[in-house]
Amino acid sequence: MIRRTALNLAIFAGTAAATAAVTALLLNIHQRKLEARDTVFRVVEIGEDTLDAAVWGRNFPRQYDGWLRTGDTNRTRYGGSEAFSHLDTQPALRTIFAGHAFAADYREERGHMYSLSDQKLTERAQKFKQSGACLHCHAGGMGHVYRSQGGGDLLVGFTNVCRMPLAEAWNLVEHPVTCVDCHDPATMALRISRPALLNGLAVLAATEAPVPSVPSIERWRREGRRGTYDPNREASRQEMRSLVCAQCHVEYYFKGEGRLLTYPWHKGLRAGEILEYYDAMDFADWTHATSGARVVKAQHPEFELWNQGVHARAGVACADCHMPYKREGAMKVSDHHVRSPLLNVARACLPCHHATETEMLERAESVQRRTRAMMDRAMAAVAELIGDIAAARAAGATDEQLATARDLQRKAQWRLDFINAENSMGFHAPAEAVLVLGEAVDFARQGQLTLRGRASAEKATP
Ligand code: HEC
Ligand code: HEC
Ligand code: HEC
Ligand code: HEC
Ligand code: HEC
Repeated sequence: MIRRTALNLAIFAGTAAATAAVTALLLNIHQRKLEARDTVFRVVEIGEDTLDAAVWGRNFPRQYDGWLRTGDTNRTRYGGSEAFSHLDTQPALRTIFAGHAFAADYREERGHMYSLSDQKLTERAQKFKQSGACLHCHAGGMGHVYRSQGGGDLLVGFTNVCRMPLAEAWNLVEHPVTCVDCHDPATMALRISRPALLNGLAVLAATEAPVPSVPSIERWRREGRRGTYDPNREASRQEMRSLVCAQCHVEYYFKGEGRLLTYPWHKGLRAGEILEYYDAMDFADWTHATSGARVVKAQHPEFELWNQGVHARAGVACADCHMPYKREGAMKVSDHHVRSPLLNVARACLPCHHATETEMLERAESVQRRTRAMMDRAMAAVAELIGDIAAARAAGATDEQLATARDLQRKAQWRLDFINAENSMGFHAPAEAVLVLGEAVDFARQGQLTLRGRASAEKATP
């Protein structure tokens, strides 16, 4: 009896001690979490409507400091962030873009800090009427802007803003690309906020085209899932490290009367597949001023071209090269100074490639030199075809007689522009870039031959 009481007491004491210990531990963990939240998350409250990066910067000073540095201007051999004019460095572009706003002003892009101000400065927006759809990729916090313009509905607001003239839509925004464009403010997880990419991926998932960088699309297809593919539910963290960039670094067009911003991935991501879609839609950006061909302007197809390369297939993400990790004290942070990796070879390439900085820079530039050499040939060929069509036109050729040559101009010019407007000078997918440029040369020369055929046929008939 006594013994038993003693035993009970002992058990009780033991349990109490254990409970106390566990409670203390839990309290400690809880407190640490709070501390972490206090120092990391809770200096200021941030939400969907916090569009000013400086406010987020009070919670995350290291990432904000990187973001601020996107205001730097450093040039590389083929890229970088100095807004030089491509029309001056490649005068043939004035011939190729004749009749389009791009023949007035086309510059090397700069960092994210300038995304809104550069759009306001360009003569393409100053002298030409543009659509509110332009804001999708140039202003910060468009998810929030769309919801407020659509009575809470993202897609309704998106449609409404695309319908507005750009000059009017500028009144709705004040920030460049910002934190909330890539992060959920509640959890800081990466997420897609841009409706044109959500629509684009849904369309792409419904095709059979390979998308090596997004295995979750291939899985979704394999499992024969119904409904709409949604990256925010399906994509892994590594896929998101590229998809956040694909919100904006992609080819686009404005569809129909409502100028709805659309990513043309209905037949796949490759240059030829995209043009096939435009052909099926009978779409042209403009009618070429000297040749009369109905042509399409390509814009920054980084995501599309990169998907054709070895890095995408190996699971390397945009952020691996453009936002590599760096150590700051005990912290490992992602470099938010999004820029050319060739200004940062040690951190961007050497974690995976066991070579020297000089060697890696040379490997990248040798790819770029070859692309540039092939591009110069394609550019000369397209400009010569344009000259020949214009001459035949001046000599009285009819639209019917010029139709085949004009279609070949459309095909050749599109491919040349696809690689030229893509901003890596072929690096993102070297073999694909050279193939596409080779096709451009071939189509342009074929176009010239069809005109020769006409000329000799005319001479032959008295
Ligand atoms: C394996 C590394 C790597 C990956 C992955 C990668 N890039 Fe690049 N990117 C480069 C290199 C190298 C250049 C050439 C930079 C230069 O010429 O200065 C470049 C150029 C660019 C440029 C032009 C930069 C400038 O300063 O002119 C943009 C924009 C870009 N990449 C976006 C992307 C996007 C978006 C993705 C993902 C869809 C991506 N990149 C994936 C290495 C990479
Ligand atoms: C799908 C996203 C997207 C849309 C829509 C978009 N842009 Fe851009 N824009 C970009 C990206 C990405 C860059 C940087 C890469 C480049 O310059 O090729 C850029 C670069 C620019 C630049 C700087 C370089 C240059 O071309 O001179 C200007 C100016 C510009 N855009 C204006 C516009 C205008 C005007 C519109 C509407 C007609 C527009 N953008 C629509 C994504 C977009
Ligand atoms: C909301 C749209 C948007 C998103 C999201 C976005 N970009 Fe950009 N990016 C732009 C625009 C617009 C420009 C051109 C700004 C200008 O020229 O004024 C640009 C410029 C760049 C440049 C050129 C910088 C330089 O110094 O020349 C690089 C590199 C780049 N982006 C990479 C990325 C990567 C990598 C991601 C994803 C981690 C990404 N971007 C996400 C719109 C976007
Ligand atoms: C163009 C897209 C983009 C923008 C804009 C952006 N981030 Fe990030 N951020 C990323 C990516 C990609 C990562 C890496 C996430 C991962 O690997 O899970 C990241 C990671 C982070 C992290 C986690 C820690 C780290 O460094 O890896 C924090 C915190 C963060 N960002 C804060 C910010 C803040 C603050 C801003 C605005 C000043 C901002 N981000 C703007 C893309 C972006
Ligand atoms: C996250 C890892 C990773 C990073 C970062 C990375 N690479 Fe790679 N790179 C790879 C892998 C993996 C391959 C493919 C190897 C293979 O399958 O043969 C590759 C292949 C290459 C190739 C051969 C390309 C081809 O098409 O055959 C070159 C050139 C290259 N990388 C250059 C670079 C440069 C320059 C950088 C920095 C801007 C870089 N890489 C950053 C992992 C990486």
